[in-house]
Amino acid sequence: MADLKAMLTYTRLAIISALADRFDFTSKNIKRRGRYGARVMWIWRLSGFLCAALLLIVLTPSPQSFPPAEAIRSSSLYRSHLRSPLFLSSYQPPDRFSFQRAATFLNAAGCVGSVANVIGVCDPNLVHVAITLDVEYLRGSIAAVHSVLTNSLCPESIFFHFIVSEVSLENLVRSTFPQLNFKVYYFDPEIVRNLISTSVRQALEQPLNYARNYLADLLEVCVNRVIYLDSDLVVVDDISELWGTCLGSRTIGAPEYCHANFTKYFTTSFWSSGRFSGTFAGRRPCYFNTGVMVIDLARWRRLGYTKKIERWMEIQKRDRIYELGSLPPFLLVFAGHVAPIGHRWNQHGLGGDNVRGSCRDLHPGRVSLLHWSGSGKPWLRLDTKQPCPLDFLWAPYDLYGQSH
Ligand SMILES: *[C@@H]1O[C@H](CO)[C@@H](O)[C@H](O)[C@H]1NC(C)=O
Repeated sequence: MADLKAMLTYTRLAIISALADRFDFTSKNIKRRGRYGARVMWIWRLSGFLCAALLLIVLTPSPQSFPPAEAIRSSSLYRSHLRSPLFLSSYQPPDRFSFQRAATFLNAAGCVGSVANVIGVCDPNLVHVAITLDVEYLRGSIAAVHSVLTNSLCPESIFFHFIVSEVSLENLVRSTFPQLNFKVYYFDPEIVRNLISTSVRQALEQPLNYARNYLADLLEVCVNRVIYLDSDLVVVDDISELWGTCLGSRTIGAPEYCHANFTKYFTTSFWSSGRFSGTFAGRRPCYFNTGVMVIDLARWRRLGYTKKIERWMEIQKRDRIYELGSLPPFLLVFAGHVAPIGHRWNQHGLGGDNVRGSCRDLHPGRVSLLHWSGSGKPWLRLDTKQPCPLDFLWAPYDLYGQSH
């Protein structure tokens, strides 16, 4: 049965790469990046290997194999089709908040702490995931959660931390995922309202975009590590692998892109001021995407990173030092001090450029997470019948709609 799981994973990846090959929009530019990426990948693999070796030593007391997660899941999927799905009509406007009930996702044998009803948020065996829920991206967030559960061997061991700032979406989450371990936190937009400066893309000015700065303050204090996920992505691998990331002495982990031109994320006035640009002295800063991060919350709290980020946002209000939204403060504080994670955990940019209708291709290599960062979103393109080829990989996780 473990073989079955491996085979399914393999098939899934084969389909993804076949799709990527078939719709090959790869420009020379991307190919060039690919070769450089391979070198970075190699370095990452080596450090990843050391981390994995360490983890293996720590985690090997019971080397039992994982029995039939897929089998359990397909039967519960089958059952859920027999049940009449629960629809939500009490929300306004109803068409925007209609989600089908997801299948029941059960832990495979061998998962630690698999008794769902005794799990509390402080259970040390949990995998913690934080994600924002807002009206605009709700469909994406629900699909992201669905994808995490679908591809996890121990879905009941995952605890979701949902950050909201407009309406309470708790009942909606409960109806869509009846078995889910989760907690909803209210993020007051006023906290950042005065700190947000206008950016090149209006979508980047949403207060909830900045909630990732405050996870250490918002989440329960017993939660010492969290995976932050954006709402426009799907996880197509077991998230526990990402959870096991070795952060070493770093506070956050993320895939780094050292080939990207780092200069362009800040204005000329930033670079010409020694007071500002001196912050990067002694580091080799690389771009990273803040849509997927593993965060050591205990360390974050101890070293007061929220205040450090806020300080840069205050500077931005006075002396425009960057053009984008919530990303640059993260780069200012962490770039060059990030624990590297494999690029397969954030295949970003699938939303395309700001040019309407532009489709992006995957970066070379294995894929564990697809991220539609950029202005295009798969649900909008699918709805308007103008999808990009990779949008069809998002579609299976979509739970939006009244009936089938
Ligand atoms: C990086 O970007 C800056 C500003 O956009 C530009 O002046 C510089 O030439 C670029 N460097 C490289 C190596 O492309």
